[in-house]
Amino acid sequence: MYVSRLEAEDLYKVFGRRPDEAVEKLRRGADREELRADGTTAAVIDASFSVESGQIFVVMGLSGSGKSTLLRMLNGLLEPTAGHVRFDGQDLTELSPRELREVRSRKISMVFQHFALFPHRSVLENAAYGLEVQGVSRETREQRALEALELAGLKGWEKSFPDELSGGMQQRVGLARALATDADLLLMDESFSALDPLIRRDMQDQLLELQKTLKKTIVFITHDLNEAMRLGDRIAVMRDGRIVQIGTAEDILVRPANDYVESFTKDVDRSRVLTAGAIMGEPENGYDASRAPATVTADTPIIDLFTPCSTSDVAVSVVDEDGGLIGVVPRARLLAVLGEPVGVSADA
Ligand SMILES: Nc1ncnc2c1ncn2[C@@H]1O[C@H](COP(=O)(O)OP(=O)(O)OP(=O)(O)O)[C@@H](O)[C@H]1O
Ligand SMILES: [Mg+2]
Repeated sequence: MYVSRLEAEDLYKVFGRRPDEAVEKLRRGADREELRADGTTAAVIDASFSVESGQIFVVMGLSGSGKSTLLRMLNGLLEPTAGHVRFDGQDLTELSPRELREVRSRKISMVFQHFALFPHRSVLENAAYGLEVQGVSRETREQRALEALELAGLKGWEKSFPDELSGGMQQRVGLARALATDADLLLMDESFSALDPLIRRDMQDQLLELQKTLKKTIVFITHDLNEAMRLGDRIAVMRDGRIVQIGTAEDILVRPANDYVESFTKDVDRSRVLTAGAIMGEPENGYDASRAPATVTADTPIIDLFTPCSTSDVAVSVVDEDGGLIGVVPRARLLAVLGEPVGVSADA
């Protein structure tokens, strides 16, 4: 049987009195409000998902929806009230505190929103901190920290101190610290949220670029759907402690599970998320592919179709890997999908 890298199964976290009773109530369909009357907080309710090696799994939701609590259960900092977390086939909920600390220091790295750098330590020492905790020798940890700083785009800044760096650079030191430990599981909680929009976009690009070679297993938390859609191979949307939808960016945009999810998608730049494959239709009789203004594959973002469509009345051809025609995108279709969810059935 194939086992996913990271798995959450029926996870619950309840704060307050008699948490086990609360879980029973939640299993019978109670919601957060009902429990609040008893003075209990259901932070995470029945969360299940899996993340494959090399994937970025994004958890998206408003403040208080339970994102950070979920993340803390994934690295064993919080014990679930019920359910299981498995990483590399090991059930974290069954480990002794000592074994758990070991897993946490070797296999898992966290990057927070406000990264707590040590002000009196150099950038290099800060980046090497995770390895210092692991008891790695000075020479080795400085070597690894240097490599990580270079990956994070901070070569040449090793000897500087945190207050000599901009906010974005400080955040990259945090990223370098996480990368230096060689941990396979990277947990990022609003890691880019405190940054200016341009720097934030830059960091997103850098993470995607790094991920191409590092292929870590990443869980990334954000309350920004645009960020979620840029980074996430898959996205979980949380509301009031529950995961209300899990899917690709396109799934969420094209087939929102409910009105709540759909309301988030209003601010998303559809032209960069939707693909030719998602919006294409059948070619009309007599369609002449040789006159198409462009020929693209199904995964092409539709933003790339606007220029060709503006030059010709003929629909763009969508082809498979062997060049076979699988669909067409007429200009009218292209314009229509920018404004509304596509393919959502009437009863959704
Ligand atoms: N230690 C705790 N004790 C009691 N309640 C808690 C505790 N930690 C979190 N909560 C409650 O659990 C719920 C979820 O909190 P959590 O921090 O996971 O949300 P979040 O989605 O990360 O929010 P934000 O976007 O603001 O960081 C909130 O109602 C919060 O008040
Ligand atoms: Mg949080």
